[in-house]
Amino acid sequence: MTANLLDPSLILDDPRLLTEWFAVGWSREVEQGRTVSRRALSRDLVLWRSASGLHCWLDLCIHRGAKLSLGTVKAGVDGDCLECPYHGWKYAGSGLCVAIPAHPGLMPPGKARAQVYAVRERYGVIWVCFGEPAGGLPEFPIAEAEGFRVMLAGPYRFRALGPRLIENLLDVAHLGIVHSGLLGDPLRSEIEDYEVTKGTRGPHSGPEANDIRIWQPDPDGTGQGAYVSYHYEVQGPLTAGFVKHHGAQQFGILAQVVPVDAEHSEMRMVMAMNYGHEIPEAELIAFQDFVAGQDKAIVESQRPELLPLDLQAELHLRSDRMAIAYRKWLRQIGFTYGVA
Ligand code: FES
Ligand SMILES: [Fe+2]
Repeated sequence: MTANLLDPSLILDDPRLLTEWFAVGWSREVEQGRTVSRRALSRDLVLWRSASGLHCWLDLCIHRGAKLSLGTVKAGVDGDCLECPYHGWKYAGSGLCVAIPAHPGLMPPGKARAQVYAVRERYGVIWVCFGEPAGGLPEFPIAEAEGFRVMLAGPYRFRALGPRLIENLLDVAHLGIVHSGLLGDPLRSEIEDYEVTKGTRGPHSGPEANDIRIWQPDPDGTGQGAYVSYHYEVQGPLTAGFVKHHGAQQFGILAQVVPVDAEHSEMRMVMAMNYGHEIPEAELIAFQDFVAGQDKAIVESQRPELLPLDLQAELHLRSDRMAIAYRKWLRQIGFTYGVA
């Protein structure tokens, strides 16, 4: 990263990061009896599933620091446990160490426990919170609505920080340029004015924008260009989504960004749509992968890496209304990760 970044150890210092829900994986990836390793907020994580449910822990054995993700999920009479690969300490689902092979008669000391994090599943996504969650899980109602197909896209890895990524998702003026021929047309890129309001999903909602009209060359796969309408919603500093309407057809994305370390982020997306059910899932995901690749080239080029919350920095126009509202809101909630 360039010199404009602060000490990397400070980048992930924002206490607000400990109250967010992060999308760290897909439910289908963590089968019962398996361990999966992940990295988020500069922490190594182990995800494992047993009969008693899904667990997300720091991937570290308190004895000598071996990675628990290299261990084995064991079924036991008192419930399943995760066994460390080094000296075989067994950790129960609660995180407590319940057996130490070198001392069969010893009741393991209370300090012998894994660092356990809050973990939930919704929409096929594994959500983790590293502290006390400030609110409920992100909401994406169309993913549960009748007639909608749900797909999971990503993770998309970026050498960029979360706020630049979320702002890119909220940015409508780039659709006809970066995604020319796919999500817009450079010759019909004018953005009519639109309104931004306070979100309606409770005290933690960020801004919301309704009915942003965008010309798209082929919104429904028939080859006919038409105006579509986007509804955007910020649900957290690093969680946002949209639903695109074209007549009765709806296509939506809920996107969540995980700060992996001080330089990298990963975005995961839940997609839902109520048309095109004949199009193979692999094709729709490949389209999304392609679009994400177009964004990656731009977002990784942006300087400064830290999103400037001072609205005197950079230039803002009417068409940037949603980005302006996002920056103002980040300042209002005192968010410090990835911003300046
Ligand atoms: S390092 Fe895990 S049991 Fe020793
Ligand atoms: Fe984009």
